[in-house]
Amino acid sequence: MLTWEEPTTPHSPSKQNPNAASESDLQAAVTAEAKHGESAAQRRINVADKRIINGQTDVNQLVPFKYKWAWEKYLATCANHWMPQEVNMSRDIALWKDPNGLTEDERRIVKRNLGFFVTADSLAANNIVLGTYRHITAPECRQFLLRQAFEEAIHTHAYQYIVESLGLDEGEIFNAYNEVQAIRDKDEFLIPFIDAIMDPNFHTGTPENDQKLLKSLIVFACLMEGLFFYVGFTQILALGRQNKMTGAAEQYQYILRDESMHCNFGIDLINAIKMENPLLWTPEFKAEIKGLFLKAVDLEYRYAEDTMPRGVLGLNASMFKGYLRYIANRRATQIGLEPLFPNEENPFPWMSEMIDLKKERNFFETRVIEYQSGGALSWD
Ligand SMILES: [Fe+2]
Ligand SMILES: [Fe+2]
Repeated sequence: MLTWEEPTTPHSPSKQNPNAASESDLQAAVTAEAKHGESAAQRRINVADKRIINGQTDVNQLVPFKYKWAWEKYLATCANHWMPQEVNMSRDIALWKDPNGLTEDERRIVKRNLGFFVTADSLAANNIVLGTYRHITAPECRQFLLRQAFEEAIHTHAYQYIVESLGLDEGEIFNAYNEVQAIRDKDEFLIPFIDAIMDPNFHTGTPENDQKLLKSLIVFACLMEGLFFYVGFTQILALGRQNKMTGAAEQYQYILRDESMHCNFGIDLINAIKMENPLLWTPEFKAEIKGLFLKAVDLEYRYAEDTMPRGVLGLNASMFKGYLRYIANRRATQIGLEPLFPNEENPFPWMSEMIDLKKERNFFETRVIEYQSGGALSWD
């Protein structure tokens, strides 16, 4: 049992003069409160102190904003919200079931595409949630990453939904990343960069580790979301442009729009880290990144060859050589590197239109719910 013991100090003021005691206690309390208020005020976030990595400010306080670009991109991704079930897949299902609906080469493209993407977005989600997130100390950037993680879940859902709608062999599609060499090679290139930052013993704060994180962000934004997705996106959108697999193409169109936002956010994040930590951007580091770009272009080109051993849909693998070089140049210059393959032109200019399309244009004429206007509040 707990008992209360009277304080036994001989000078305990409570025993000598209760009134004097309350005055001095009051005085002490006022002083303590003033001091507390002072130190609490000192703890208030000064926007200039915020940092993307290794920041000391409270990550639980979203505002005051410092990185407005991150918040604006968060709002933009929310305005683009969509769900896979809203897209009508009945035409795709009929076409897939029709023995004369698609050629063998077209069917191979669909299956290889899904084979890569059904697991790719899980890798992306894990990389964000278990890796990147805890190393980023700007809450407005974390807010974007939370939204991005949910979008990666929507993408995995979309690919699963296509697999299920078409009645494909789930075992074959979901194991492609173990069983199809061109897919496995892409994933094996990526996984070490995810593992490095997911390691619980990994912490930023040294130049070496800060470079490790920066490298992982570059691999993810510029090479995975910004390059490894593009052969697959182009192929399915090319099918859609020929009025084939229009439901799948609609889904890929929304995914492409989301991914291009993820890629742009990643590039802004990389450039902000570079600006705040210029010492990380050494000639050796740049040379290493350049090597990774070249390797990724090569891997994606091999994937293009594997997915289209012959010409199909007016596309062939060698056209992708030019396209991948064009995209790699763009990603390199976006993070302040020299173009890797000068003077490459875009062989698929229609892909840029796809990225910019507004949802309401509904290119493939499948029906979707409109979130853009419904989500906005008006106080007029
Ligand atoms: Fe994704
Ligand atoms: Fe993404």
